[in-house]
Amino acid sequence: MDFMDEAGLATLLQHFAEEEKPHGAVVPPLYQNSLFVFDDCESFLIAHQQKPEGPPHHYSRLSNPTVEIIERKIAMLEGCEAAKAFGTGMAAISAAVMSCAEGGAHFVVVDTCYNVVKRLIDGYLSRFGVSATYVDGTCHEEIIDSIRPETKGIYLESPTSVFFKLQDLERIGKAAREKGVTTMIDNTYSTPLYQQPAKYGIDIVLHSASKYLGGHSDILGGMVCGSRERINKMVREEIYLIGGIMSPFTAWLLNRGMRTLALRLKAHEESANQVAAWLEDREEVEKVFHVGLPSHPQWPLFRKQMSGSAGLFSFEPKNQDPEWTRRFVDALQLFKIAVSWGGFESLVVPLHMSCRQEAEPRYVIRLFCGLEDVPDMIADLDRAFAAANV
Ligand SMILES: Cc1ncc(COP(=O)(O)O)c(C=O)c1O
Repeated sequence: MDFMDEAGLATLLQHFAEEEKPHGAVVPPLYQNSLFVFDDCESFLIAHQQKPEGPPHHYSRLSNPTVEIIERKIAMLEGCEAAKAFGTGMAAISAAVMSCAEGGAHFVVVDTCYNVVKRLIDGYLSRFGVSATYVDGTCHEEIIDSIRPETKGIYLESPTSVFFKLQDLERIGKAAREKGVTTMIDNTYSTPLYQQPAKYGIDIVLHSASKYLGGHSDILGGMVCGSRERINKMVREEIYLIGGIMSPFTAWLLNRGMRTLALRLKAHEESANQVAAWLEDREEVEKVFHVGLPSHPQWPLFRKQMSGSAGLFSFEPKNQDPEWTRRFVDALQLFKIAVSWGGFESLVVPLHMSCRQEAEPRYVIRLFCGLEDVPDMIADLDRAFAAANV
C-alpha cells in the first residue's frame, strides 16, 4: 500500500502528483519551455497525434509537466477524473460554458453569481443566440423548472460571493442528470477542501485559482475539473483552438501556494467567524451575510454540503446613506479597498446590489479577513464605525 492511498487532504496537498523527483529535487522543477524535442520522426509523430503510448508532451499549449502537477492535484482533491489549468478564472469559466454551448443554447444561471459570467452570456454569447434564465438558486425546484428542451447547462455558484446563498447540490445534480443537462459550479469560495461538488453529481467544477488556491495575491489562474472524456474534448477544442492556458511559472507558484491551503483556510475561517459574530452584535449592522454563522438561513444545508466557511462575507449597514458607506470604507486602514480575495491581506469592497433580481439594490460592504491578527481587524472596523457615525 502507498502512504497516499489513505492520506488526508493536507498530506495530499504536499505530495500528490509529485512522485517524480528529478535529481532528487524536493520541489518539482519549473519546466519553463514552450516545446519539447524528439530524437526521431516516429516519436515526434506519435507525440503530435497525442497517442497515449507516445511521449506525454510536445507543445506547452496542450500540456506541460509543471502545469500537469497542479492539474492532477486539483482533480484528485475535487474527486474528478481530470482537470485543466487556464490563465484566469474567467478563461476557465468561459471555456466550460462554451464547451456546452451551441447556437441557440439556453443556460439556467444563479442570478447572484460572479457578474462577469452574466456579461459573458448576455453580452457576448448572445451574438450566437445563447440565452440564460436567471434564478435565485436557493430553491432547487426553480432551477429544475427553468430547464427547457434547448437547455445545455446549469451554472451554479454556491455559496455566491456577495450574499452567500447556497444551492442544494445533491438535489440539483440528481435532477439535472435525469434530464441530461450538464451542471457546472464555481467552487472558488470553498476550494476542494471545504466542498467537493462532484460527489453530489455536479459535472464540471470551476475555480478562480487567483483566490485561495494561489493564496498570495500574486497569480491569476483558473481550473476546470470533470470527467476525462469532457476534459479531453476541451483540450481538443477550447484549449487547442482558443488557447487560454496557464503558464508553467504560474503553475509552479500555484503549487507552492497550495502547500499551505489547509492552514490558510482554517485561519481565514476562524478570523472571519469571530469578526462576523462581532459585527452581528453592532447596532449599526442590519444583517450579516455569512455561511459560517448559525444565523445563516441555510445553515443545515451548509452543514450538509460544506465542511468549512473561510474568510469572505458581507454585511448590510442600517444606514443606507451612500455617504455613510463611503466614510466607513475610507476610514479603514488594515482592510484595503480592492477586488478579489483569498490572499494574505484583508480587503473591503463597497457594493450597491440587489440580493434578488426583483429586489431594490442596497448598500452592502464585503469584507475578506486575511491572515492578520483578529484584534487588529476588529480595531480597524471599530475605528471605521466611529468615523462613519459622525
Ligand atoms: C467567484 C469568482 N469566480 C470567478 C472569478 C474570476 O476569476 P479571475 O479573476 O481569476 O478571472 C472571480 C473573480 O473575482 C470570482 O470572484
